[in-house]
Amino acid sequence: MRLSFVDPQTPAPVTNLRLEPAEDRSFQTRAIWGQRDDAYFDLKTRMHRGLIERMTLSGLDRRPPDQVRAEVSELVIAMLQEDAHPLNADELRRLNADLMDELLGYGPLEPLLRDPEISDILVNTAKEVYVDRRGRIEPTTVRFSDEQHLLRVIERIVDKVGRRIDESQPMVDARLPDGSRVNAVVPPIAVDGALLSIRRFARVPYDLPRLVANGTISSPTADLLSGLVKARLNILISGGTGTGKTTLLNAMSEALGEDERIVTIEDAAELQLQQHHVVRMETRPSNIEGRGEVTQRELVKNSLRMRPDRIIVGEVRAGEAFDMLQAMNTGHDGSMTTVHANTPRDALTRLEQMIGMAGVDVSTRSMRAQIASAIQIVIQLKRFSDGARRLVSLQEIEGMEGDVITMQELMRFEQTHIDEAGRVHGRFGWTGIRPRFFETFRTCGLHVPTVLAGPAE
Ligand SMILES: Nc1ncnc2c1ncn2[C@@H]1O[C@H](COP(=O)(O)OP(=O)(O)OP(=O)(O)O)[C@@H](O)[C@H]1O
Ligand SMILES: [Mg+2]
Repeated sequence: MRLSFVDPQTPAPVTNLRLEPAEDRSFQTRAIWGQRDDAYFDLKTRMHRGLIERMTLSGLDRRPPDQVRAEVSELVIAMLQEDAHPLNADELRRLNADLMDELLGYGPLEPLLRDPEISDILVNTAKEVYVDRRGRIEPTTVRFSDEQHLLRVIERIVDKVGRRIDESQPMVDARLPDGSRVNAVVPPIAVDGALLSIRRFARVPYDLPRLVANGTISSPTADLLSGLVKARLNILISGGTGTGKTTLLNAMSEALGEDERIVTIEDAAELQLQQHHVVRMETRPSNIEGRGEVTQRELVKNSLRMRPDRIIVGEVRAGEAFDMLQAMNTGHDGSMTTVHANTPRDALTRLEQMIGMAGVDVSTRSMRAQIASAIQIVIQLKRFSDGARRLVSLQEIEGMEGDVITMQELMRFEQTHIDEAGRVHGRFGWTGIRPRFFETFRTCGLHVPTVLAGPAE
């Protein structure tokens, strides 16, 4: 059906036009990206401006969406008639849905936010939006009308968490209602225009079986990881940016006992632990006068007074590493954290540097000794050229030899080849070294996985 609002011979039955609610349109995103539709984009921008002029915007968020939708579609039909712009029913539906996104949601980002395959949305000024889809970065045709439009969306996000962003405070971390992590940077720090990075998480958090199913780990490794958590070993998950450190930490947390009191400490609360007895703490940046900052370090220290059974630090970045290791060495075993590093050895070096940031006077040797006795397991994650994330190495810290921390690799992923479609193939293999923790497994009555090798896919 084609509804023409311009042809005087066939006046459109505008009053009877029923518009469907803006349902989940994630399936449409690809189609929308496929066609860079400038005329539509201009029309939408005009209509959006028109709505802003004609509607009472204050309190819009609090009104029933159906009521707003009805008002929007009525106004849109009236404006289209004035605008003399013909649209078919599909186009009209899309226009209404997009305008609802503008008024009640995050505008052009909404279709991307609804797409479950997208893990990161990267807005590089109003004119460029990239996404990370299944581990690979790709451009989209999504864009904002202008810098003001992008700033309005950023303000809407930041506003919701009670923060503000402007020239005097040009960088903000925030969170969307669905838990996505947001970072926004505006001029003058952002040189070419505002920047926005959104890290999304799987709607249904990954658990270990799902990570087995998508080839991140093998099934025996999943059993082993659960065992490591149950045996209360201290675990460090290492990986580059976006390699799935937080996701694996979250998945492994399923093995934590329901009867344990778990304290989580994060810069931006991302973990979605399923246990009941979880208390969560989040750092706070300083306010505009430079006061009120609460650091991870303070939170780690504070957590020790909260009778924790386990302490989970989302990611160690600085001096809190010192306090975390001390806690691990003084009876708070079974703690877990992640670190940004490309190899297990690098992860230990990073920890050393971070202890240095704590400003305590310890020799390199005693720093290393502290690391070696605090941490038992280092897990390395990697993102491959095909976008897949995998656990590529599992190492056990043995102890010290002279000044050096010694580790033994128990399991690794070996890449065999890349097929024509660019997919990486390989297998998870057990090195045959007998881990020291097997004794702990036995004393805890935990099953020792016998077959620790399995195909990668
Ligand atoms: N094994 C996996 N398989 C598929 N998708 C994954 C996997 N691990 C993580 N992801 C997805 O990749 C994105 C990044 O994951 P995550 O936040 O866990 O990475 P990270 O290493 O903690 O990143 P950062 O360095 O930013 O802290 C998320 O959207 C997540 O859902
Ligand atoms: Mg993370």
